[in-house]
Amino acid sequence: MYGIRGLVAEKKAFGEEDPSQDLIDVFNVGAAIKAESYEICEYESLIDMAREMKHTKVAQLLNQNLKEEKAALKKMEAFSEKVKPNEMMNEEQEKKAAMSSKSSRSRRAA
Ligand SMILES: [Fe+2]
Repeated sequence: MYGIRGLVAEKKAFGEEDPSQDLIDVFNVGAAIKAESYEICEYESLIDMAREMKHTKVAQLLNQNLKEEKAALKKMEAFSEKVKPNEMMNEEQEKKAAMSSKSSRSRRAA
């Protein structure tokens, strides 16, 4: 539960940086992947606990949920392959872009 709260806080902090729609999409798919991974870990530990307590039926039911979560994770991972940011700049490209926008601004000002 606290892990999911962390994801929500992360989303809020990201939104405050006023990202473009393509980056929001990338962020959201990443957040979905994190949520599914988190759920998978939770189900795995619950299944271990149920087995240790010899609650076989419970472990079976939890295992069905685990399978659903794993299927959802696979879907999200496939989706993330399709969702790409429009412009992915490396550090050097970002510097160049910043410098050229600065020089064009100063030219305009002059
Ligand atoms: Fe899920």
